[in-house]
Amino acid sequence: MQCLPKGLIFVWSLISCITIAVSSTHGQYSPPSLTQLTGLFPHLTFNRSYSEFFGGSNIRQSDNGSHIDLILNKFSGSGFVSQNNYYYGFFSAAIKLPSDYSAGVVVAFYMTNANVFPHTHDEIDIELLGHEKRKEWVLQTNVYGNGSTIGREEKFYLWFDPTQQFHQYSILWNYHHIVFLVDNIPVREVNHSEAISRAYPSKPMSVYSTIWDGSKWATHGGKKPVNYMFAPFVASFSELEIEGCIWNPTKVIPLCSKSGPETGSNSDPVDGEEFVRLSEQQRTGMDSVRERFMLYTYCKDPGRYSVLPPECSDKNMGDLQDGDRIDG
Ligand SMILES: *[C@@H]1O[C@H](CO)[C@@H](O)[C@H](O)[C@H]1NC(C)=O
Ligand SMILES: *[C@@H]1O[C@H](CO)[C@@H](O)[C@H](O)[C@H]1NC(C)=O
Repeated sequence: MQCLPKGLIFVWSLISCITIAVSSTHGQYSPPSLTQLTGLFPHLTFNRSYSEFFGGSNIRQSDNGSHIDLILNKFSGSGFVSQNNYYYGFFSAAIKLPSDYSAGVVVAFYMTNANVFPHTHDEIDIELLGHEKRKEWVLQTNVYGNGSTIGREEKFYLWFDPTQQFHQYSILWNYHHIVFLVDNIPVREVNHSEAISRAYPSKPMSVYSTIWDGSKWATHGGKKPVNYMFAPFVASFSELEIEGCIWNPTKVIPLCSKSGPETGSNSDPVDGEEFVRLSEQQRTGMDSVRERFMLYTYCKDPGRYSVLPPECSDKNMGDLQDGDRIDG
């Protein structure tokens, strides 16, 4: 590549050189602009929504609790957990990842009820896995339902440097589907299909955010452990959003934080048109991201499963119709 011509051509070439330098790490990709689901819900402060989960001295709040740093050093990681359990909802955080060498470091934003249902637990995971090349964090998603032990991982590269700015990582979970979004772009949809219904998360869960040492597995299968010369590792959180039905074990009907208890059986806070199914644009956006940035899906890993999980065959991937409802 000729990078030193004159005049206008110089400017043009300079831009191409820069673009190529950037695209070599992140792919040349301008994400589509899609429905801003994160714009529909208020931002919460830490004290209104979360409390300490572990590593309290490694949790730092600022801006009256609208900004939280989670720190991993050689003594401890740290994490916070929602004050309530939720049955369906929209859960989101803007996260900026540690910018230095980060192999082995895991930053997670996830939901689980393992503490309440140890044998039939449900879980929805977003895990960001550090990398020795600083910018090349990997996004891993996973779903477990009703005690299933099958891993349903999908992994993605990001189309931006996640250590430079805050980016939104969101989970939409309702009766119809689970959608993982990055900056409001769906990267994965898990339909509540017949095929996956036994392993579809269907009990209230808490929301967690953590940073921890994943030396044993996170980067190149554990070949690159955390190097504490680069500690402290700081993950910053803001724009915390939770819109869900608060589960109260003494009440049969969950309390929706949006519609309130009066609405009775209509207790799903995220079952409006924009939540029940992806729009055409969202689906196109998701397809283009998956085509370019997905690096692993369990559905294409016959080495791991002698029989692929049933939802992996296309014909079973459709959403259950209302007439097929298996719960109330
Ligand atoms: C969840 O697991 C329990 C215990 O194995 C079982 O009794 C129950 O029917 C399962 N629920 C669904 C929806 O599959
Ligand atoms: C989910 O179901 C809808 C139809 O209900 C279908 O259009 C879509 O392709 C399905 N998504 C996946 C990931 O299978």
